[in-house]
Amino acid sequence: MASTSDKLHDPSAIDNLTQPPQASSITMSPAAIISEAASNGASNGTTNSNDAGQTQAPVFLNTQPDSDHDWKITLRGKVVAITGANRGIGLGLAQVCLANDAKEVYSLDLFEPGEEFQQLAIANPKRFHYLNCDVTNEESVIKTIDQIVAQSGRIDGMIANAGMTKHQPALNFDRPQLEQLFNLNVFGAYFCATAAAKKFIELGIKGSIVFTASMTSYRPNRAGPSAPYGGTKAAVRNMAHTLAMEWAKHGIRVNSISPGFVRTQMTAKIESAPDFQLKMQYYGGMPRLADPRELGGAYVYLLSEGATYTTGIDIPVAGIVGAW
Ligand SMILES: NC(=O)c1ccc[n+]([C@@H]2O[C@H](COP(=O)([O-])OP(=O)(O)OC[C@H]3O[C@@H](n4cnc5c(N)ncnc54)[C@H](O)[C@@H]3O)[C@@H](O)[C@H]2O)c1
Repeated sequence: MASTSDKLHDPSAIDNLTQPPQASSITMSPAAIISEAASNGASNGTTNSNDAGQTQAPVFLNTQPDSDHDWKITLRGKVVAITGANRGIGLGLAQVCLANDAKEVYSLDLFEPGEEFQQLAIANPKRFHYLNCDVTNEESVIKTIDQIVAQSGRIDGMIANAGMTKHQPALNFDRPQLEQLFNLNVFGAYFCATAAAKKFIELGIKGSIVFTASMTSYRPNRAGPSAPYGGTKAAVRNMAHTLAMEWAKHGIRVNSISPGFVRTQMTAKIESAPDFQLKMQYYGGMPRLADPRELGGAYVYLLSEGATYTTGIDIPVAGIVGAW
């Protein structure tokens, strides 16, 4: 009998495992999509034309859950990768994913995990792992995703979360500083999304990708000047919409979350500024920073089968702070 992991390496097998037995749904493995596109002479698999010049409907992998789905919002059975989950928001998201029954969560991080990571790993034996990965290096990302599949047999979700900011007046940024921000926040997120998508397609998994964008993708951060950072996050939020459109045919969903102020090392300086309370007062909304775990429910939803028709959106989770 074929093992589960054998089946996972056969895209048509996994499609049969996960598709609802509904006559109306189009069920087709990625390999089948490619061969159908090829036999119709299509170059990109999105639109097939026949000799008479008629356009046929594109073939889409259907993301609907099985007919016996219990409609609970849960990550039961899912393997999720989170970049930058050794601390901060990523670590909080890992905790909420594990609390919502994710089978395993991998932190893809550049630095060795600390005490907080170890505590969560001990509380969730064999379910929370660290893999060394530099998301700015595409090879490193691909190798790490391969390692997840080798260890766990599958990958269902990718949270492209690792990122950094720099607060200083726009006129003071030099090119190396800009490159550092864009390399991590935009190129890193892009490599994670594309590497995960390629693996989902290879394995026939209807995966979910969630980017951590930011409220600064919508409007300025009045607590600290950070024009390039806002630019990187606007790029990420925009990318999510376009990738969602491109990859719908593969059954891959792509969304983003825009946090407001969250209590992590990134915001330590903002919170300790002498005029912080006054700034918060004038921001409006909830005059406090979020615990990273308060973002988790939105990510869990987007990663879950509860969100099979949710793609290409951004969810601001910001206590309506500065939402003007
Ligand atoms: N903290 C906030 O208020 C806030 C608000 C909006 C958006 N965000 C975004 O949330 C994400 C997480 O922020 P945070 O506050 O938890 O930051 P953080 O600095 O606490 O954590 C970032 C993590 O990313 C890791 N990392 C850095 N470079 C990496 C690389 N090249 N490869 C892999 N991992 C790398 C770090 O080691 C760290 O564990 C970022 O994208 C940030 O822009 C944060």
